[in-house]
Formats: sequence, C-alpha cells, structure tokens
Amino acid sequence: MLERVQSLNNAVAQSKDLSDLFAFVAEANLGKTCFSSSLGQEDQVLTDYIFRYDLDIDVFTLDTGRLFQETYDVLSSTQKKYGKSIQSYFPNNEEVEGLVSKQGINGFYDSVQNRKDCCSVRKINPLRRALQPYSVWVTGLRSEQSANRSDFTVFAYDSQFDVIKFNPLLHWTYQEVLDYLESFNVPQNNLHQQGYVSIGCAPCTRAITQGEDPRAGRWWWESSHKECGLHKTNN
Ligand code: ADX
Ligand code: SF4
Repeated sequence: MLERVQSLNNAVAQSKDLSDLFAFVAEANLGKTCFSSSLGQEDQVLTDYIFRYDLDIDVFTLDTGRLFQETYDVLSSTQKKYGKSIQSYFPNNEEVEGLVSKQGINGFYDSVQNRKDCCSVRKINPLRRALQPYSVWVTGLRSEQSANRSDFTVFAYDSQFDVIKFNPLLHWTYQEVLDYLESFNVPQNNLHQQGYVSIGCAPCTRAITQGEDPRAGRWWWESSHKECGLHKTNN
C-alpha cells in the first residue's frame, strides 16, 4: 500500500489543479470515494467542485451535536443551492450519554483526556462508521494550516481508518481558497466575517485576532494539541 501511495504522489507531484487531480483519481480506479466536509472554507471549495461537476463522490459531514447554528445554516444553504445530498453522521447515543454522565456536559474543558474522549465519541467513532464503505477519503486539508500538516502529502494511507486519504487542496494558499469561493459565489459560514478562521465545535472554537495562528482558536485553552485526532498524522 505504501508503494502504491508513493507512486500516486510521484504522479501528481505538487499539483493543485482540481480538474487534473480529480481526473487522475478517477482514472487510477482507487475505489469508492467519499468527501468529509466540516462546512469550512476549504471544504466548501471541494463541495462546490464535486457538485458542480457531478463527480461520483459521496459527501458527508460529522454532526457532533455541538456545532454552531451558523454551521447548520451553511449546511442547509449548501444543500439548497446545489440540490444535492450531504449525509450527516451523528455520534452513538449511548456513547454520548455515557460520556456526559461521566465528565459532565462541558467536561472537555477539565482535562486533555476528557477533551480527547469527547472528540473520540463525537467525531472519531462516527468518522470510522462513515468511512466503512469507502476506499478513498477526500479531505480539505492544506499544508499551510499548521506545522503538523506541513509535511502531509496529497495521497496517504491512513492506517487509523484503513483508507487512502486524498488531499487535493494540500498546496493551495488561503488566498486561493478565498478567491475560489468568491468567484463561484459559494455559501460560507457567517462566522468567517467575525474573525473565525478554522471552525469546529462551538464550545471549542473562538475567533482569532490578526497575526494569530489560523488554528489558535481551536481548543484555545490547551497549550498544545491543536488536533482532535482526525488527522493526527497523514498516515
Ligand atoms: S480538525 O481535525 O481540526 O477537526 P479541520 O477542522 O482542520 O480538522 O478540518 C480538516 C478536514 O477534516 C476537513 O477538510 C474535513 O475533510 C475533515 N473534517 C473536520 N471536521 C469535520 C466534520 N465535522 N465533518 C466532516 N469532516 C470534517
Ligand atoms: Fe467535543 Fe470539543 Fe471535540 Fe467537539 S471539538 S467533539 S465539543 S471536545
């Protein structure tokens, strides 16, 4: 598998052209493909592209139960604009009930372990279930987003979920994302106008100020660990 992924990466090199990249993936015949959208700006680029060209890629979102109202608004306006389905995956009810009775409704603020447990129940376990039927997982990751992501590759084997991860926006700049969204009039989260850049769950995301790291608003009370475990590494 690692050799396969290596040769895919060699073939695409540093490409950021979506039509080339998606055509390459279709021709490579890698298997059933899905795209997970958080409804963030990068993901809205990919949703627009997939829906605009009617690609054979299923789109889903992980609804943790703790998202912003504004995130639900983008989900709703996106589904209306394109007339396409974005499947919502929810956490297992018994796991959420067990988590909340153990750590309290906002227990993620109390310790890193509590926060990781919450992310596992509300995001990672549902993601594992969502990815089950698929061989290829498209994400909106960009290498600029964090130091951890700077050495990610366009293709990677994700051993956590046993899929080939495909990151077509890896080499895009933030400005290129914004330009795409504007030129195609793609729905965006209203929170972006209020200083929010990277948006996750409401209780775990704050706006950032100019000059701050783009991910500084995620789990801001923790000194490190700016990842929820979805993308700990690229493999
Ligand atoms: S996170 O690990 O910090 O939560 P981030 O918000 O940067 O991830 O998003 C990176 C990619 O992970 C997105 O482009 C998307 O593919 C996937 N992702 C993150 N959150 C969700 C979500 N709630 N639903 C579906 N996909 C998600
Ligand atoms: Fe829980 Fe916060 Fe993780 Fe969302 S981001 S799953 S609320 S700890």
